[in-house]
Amino acid sequence: MKVLITGAGGQLGGALQRTPPGNAEINAIDVEDVDLTDDGMLRARLAVEAPDVLINAAAYTAVDRAEEEEDLARAINADAVAVMADAMRESGGRMVHVSTDFVFDGASTQPYRPGDERAPLSAYGRTKAQGEDHLRPEDLLVRTAWVYEAGGQNFVATMLRLMLERDELAVVVDQIGSPTRAEGLARTIWSLVAKEATGTWHHADAGVCSWYDFAVAIAEEAQEIGLIARMPTIRPIPSSAYPTPARRPAFSLLDCSSTREFLGEAPVHWRVNLRAMLQDEAARG
Ligand SMILES: NC(=O)c1ccc[n+]([C@@H]2O[C@H](COP(=O)([O-])OP(=O)(O)OC[C@H]3O[C@@H](n4cnc5c(N)ncnc54)[C@H](OP(=O)(O)O)[C@@H]3O)[C@@H](O)[C@H]2O)c1
Repeated sequence: MKVLITGAGGQLGGALQRTPPGNAEINAIDVEDVDLTDDGMLRARLAVEAPDVLINAAAYTAVDRAEEEEDLARAINADAVAVMADAMRESGGRMVHVSTDFVFDGASTQPYRPGDERAPLSAYGRTKAQGEDHLRPEDLLVRTAWVYEAGGQNFVATMLRLMLERDELAVVVDQIGSPTRAEGLARTIWSLVAKEATGTWHHADAGVCSWYDFAVAIAEEAQEIGLIARMPTIRPIPSSAYPTPARRPAFSLLDCSSTREFLGEAPVHWRVNLRAMLQDEAARG
């Protein structure tokens, strides 16, 4: 199975390359190989590669910056997806795409199911929803949330840096979600590909927390393995006390039950994956 992965240097792109099935012959590309804003270059590369499976792990993920760069975010998160889906239709390859909890508005009190109505609050969320709209029923779409990975740019890395610099931190308590390690997401994507799944699926680690709870857990786990010397004071604050350019959903839970049932896999709690990721982070030095 010839697989082309975009976003090679990203959190998910890296995790996909570390967890492939035995029959996958992988080529992973990044912006230096093909800039997804260049339709012609992307089309030409896809025609040459003609993969059996294209996994698009590339995205414009700077949520706040997207408020000022929506055209650029749309070019990467939506227009390029249209080019990829078209190319796969022409070549007969399978298209796998990844999207986000940010396509929902977070007004629900029940975890979002794959078919629930989308209502993005931010430019990033709008462009990701537009990307989803370019897929065909035979494509595979996996939505996820709150992704982190060792070596990536993410909330865990930011917290670890701040915990080394400061004695006290204030972290938002009124947004809840499920922190999700990219490695588990990659394994789920590979399992869905192996079962030739089509349509929309959700993947997140099990359990629920606020950003504040997540920060406290990061501090506890990091101190336990010596990544930080002492527990900082962490204060819970409302989102209103930490204004950001982009609005974020207050309730970001994804209902992943259909994915778990289809794959027959038991969910892994986010704290278990956090501990494993921090151990990997410590091993990286
Ligand atoms: N991170 C999260 O919390 C989160 C949450 C929900 C859903 N998702 C979705 O999950 C997927 C994977 O996210 P991630 O966390 O792995 O993202 P990431 O770490 O930000 O990686 C994104 C990758 O896309 C590449 N890229 C950006 N612009 C490009 C362009 N113009 N041409 C080619 N490549 C380009 C980046 O390259 P450079 O680094 O060189 O720019 C990077 O390798 C995305 O679809 C994202 O929307 C992420």
